[in-house]
Formats: sequence, structure tokens, C-alpha cells
Amino acid sequence: MAIEAWFMHESDEDQRLPHHKSPPEFVSLEKLAELGVLYWRLDPEKHEDDPELNRIREDRGYSYMDMLDLCPEKVENYEQKLKNFYTEHIHGDEEIRYCLEGSGYFDVRDKEDRWIRIAINGGDLIVLPAGIYHRFTLDTNNYIKLMRLFVGEPVWTAFNRPQEEHPARKEYVKRSFSGAHRFGFAVAAH
Ligand code: LAC
Ligand code: NI
Repeated sequence: MAIEAWFMHESDEDQRLPHHKSPPEFVSLEKLAELGVLYWRLDPEKHEDDPELNRIREDRGYSYMDMLDLCPEKVENYEQKLKNFYTEHIHGDEEIRYCLEGSGYFDVRDKEDRWIRIAINGGDLIVLPAGIYHRFTLDTNNYIKLMRLFVGEPVWTAFNRPQEEHPARKEYVKRSFSGAHRFGFAVAAH
């Protein structure tokens, strides 16, 4: 099964709840691809030596890799980190996350500035392009184990919105809003 994504119903309810509209409005992988969001479905059991993962890493230059096990015992300043993850931000580079266990939500803004919630489970590898406004939250299962990938030396700096003058934001806006120049990637779902 592919990932599920939907337009969020914005309310003050717990961020860990799904926040579906009524009735739910799902978002296709094609629409995500138009926003520059890439997705692969892999076998998390094989993550230590997975030819498919290795090929993606080689193709895209993801030389760096580490693990983020999001639970209070393993993460310093756990509560603060979760708060920062859920504050709307961009990065100067792609955010690449491979979910090995547990689950969570990546929220991204579409071109009309609506929130799209992307549900991530074990086996989902997602790439958010540099410059896209986004945030992350755990869901009610309260646990996720993520592989973090990066091109070269990792930079995790988050720039909170507004960032309209940030070069990565400008480049993203140019690419995604120009219409003629879409992101040049095919949807890579399996
Ligand atoms: C982040 C976490 C989920 O960077 O890795 O948002
Ligand atoms: Ni981020």
C-alpha cells in the first residue's frame, strides 16, 4: 500500500489526531510529486542491506545516514524537539526520512497554502524538497524510528516561517509555482 495523504481540517484538536476533513479529502501521489515531494515504499526489515535503498542513495547522493529513535529515553530535550518539529519551517536542503518502525505525520503546504497531512509508516521513505514549508508530529501511537539521510555533511537547521527571502524558498517557489517547470521527477511509488 502507498502512503495516504489528505487535506487537513484545521482545528485546535490534539496535533497527533488525523485531522481529516468531513468527509475526508485525500491527496494523490501525483499531487505530492507536483509539490516536489517524493516517495518510495521499501522493506524496513532489509534496511541494513537493501539493494533498492542503496540504489536510491547512490542515485541521489545520500552519503550520510543516521537514526532518530523518537522516544523520551533516547532523545535529549525530547519535548522541545517535538515542539520544534511541529513549528512550520523550511530547510536549505532536502529532508529525507525513512520510517523503520512506528508512525507519524509530515505536514506540507500546497501551492494554495493549505496543509496536506502525509501519514508515514514502517517502510515509507519520503523526501521533502528544500524550501517547502512543512512540520512533523508523532501520531497517537507516540513512537517513530527514522533513518535520516543527507547529501554530504548534514545540516539540520530549521528556518521558521516566514522565509520568503531565503534562497532555498525562492528557488522552491520558482520551481513549483512556475507551472511550466514542474519538478522533473517521476512518481516512484511501488
Ligand atoms: C524532523 C524530524 C522528524 O526533522 O526528523 O522533522
Ligand atoms: Ni524539517
